[in-house]
This record gives sequence, structure tokens and C-alpha cells, in this order.
Amino acid sequence: MKIKISKKIIYRILLGLLIVFIAIQFIEVEKTNPPVTGELNFPKEIKSVMQRSCYDCHSNQTVWPWYSHIAPVSWLVSKDVVKGRDELNFSEWDKYSDKRRAKKIKEIWEEIEKGEMPMSIYIPLHPDAVLTAEDKELIKKWVNDFNASANPVINNQMD
Ligand code: HEC
Repeated sequence: MKIKISKKIIYRILLGLLIVFIAIQFIEVEKTNPPVTGELNFPKEIKSVMQRSCYDCHSNQTVWPWYSHIAPVSWLVSKDVVKGRDELNFSEWDKYSDKRRAKKIKEIWEEIEKGEMPMSIYIPLHPDAVLTAEDKELIKKWVNDFNASANPVINNQMD
């Protein structure tokens, strides 16, 4: 059996999709960068690795690329940033107790060792985020030596 699809139907379907695409652009999602209240005081070399690989989802200094403003991609990006910040936020490090800080730091190495972080969905458009063996060694050492109470935050808030 041959199904004949007329050009008219195809145009209608495309027009329908276009209207849906335009309509969903008006659904608002969270895409803000709240103030940095107190940043984890990283050693310089660790900070640059984290900025490259983790900060877009685990800080309030997210770089929102152009496609992060276009639905439905924006929904995915926003969801990862909101969930990521919720789990671990280097920009609101002042809000964690020493015990929580120590736990988060331990989790960082666990996630990296398992290859769970940075999230794989993030890599194709951020190839720089891939951690080299050298980056991993640096992080591992830093995590092992980390002492939560001896690690003050940098307070970025003006008062
Ligand atoms: C594209 C966004 C994204 C990037 C980039 C990213 N993360 Fe995550 N991270 C998340 C999300 C979302 C979660 C919440 C848990 C989940 O959905 O897997 C999370 C959870 C975590 C957790 C908590 C895990 C747990 O279950 O307790 C740690 C620790 C973590 N990330 C560390 C890192 C580190 C370190 C990097 C950089 C090397 C990084 N992440 C890069 C999005 C990201």
C-alpha cells in the first residue's frame, strides 16, 4: 500500500511545529547568576581546572551560551544548573558547615574517579571540560589534603 502525503499536509505539519517552537520560547526557566556570597578558597591551579570543568553547573558564575536561551535546549541546561548548584555550589561555600564541606570535597573526587563528573552531556559542546590525567592527579591530592576548617571562604560580598 502506498500512502500519499500531499504537500499541503507537510506544510501544515511544519507550520504547526513552527508555532509550537515559537510558543515554547515564552516558557520561562531559571537562567540567572545569583550573587557570589562566599567562594571556596581554591589553590590557583585547582580553581582553573574547576572553572573550566565544573563552574557552569556548580557556581553562580555560569556562562550561558546562546543555545541555552533557546527552548527546549534551555530547559535541559537550566535543569542541570539548578540541580548542580543545589548539590554543590562553590559560590555559596559560606553556607555549608565544616562537616558538609568535608563531605562535598570527598564527593568531588568520588564523582571524578567514577567518571560521573563533568556530566557527559556537557562534553560535546565543552571539550575543554574533559579532565586530563594531570588534572585528576592535582584534584586527588588537593582532596586528600583538604582541611575544611583551615580553608576560609573568599567573601565576595561588599559590605
Ligand atoms: C552540565 C552540568 C554539570 C557539570 C559541568 C558538572 N556537574 Fe556535577 N552535578 C550536576 C548535576 C545536575 C548534579 C546532580 C546529580 C545528578 O543529577 O547527577 C551534580 C552533582 C554533583 C555532585 C554531587 C554528587 C552526589 O550525588 O552526591 C558532585 C560532587 C559534583 N557534581 C561534582 C562535579 C565536579 C567536580 C565537576 C567538574 C569536574 C562537575 N560536577 C561538573 C551537573 C554538572
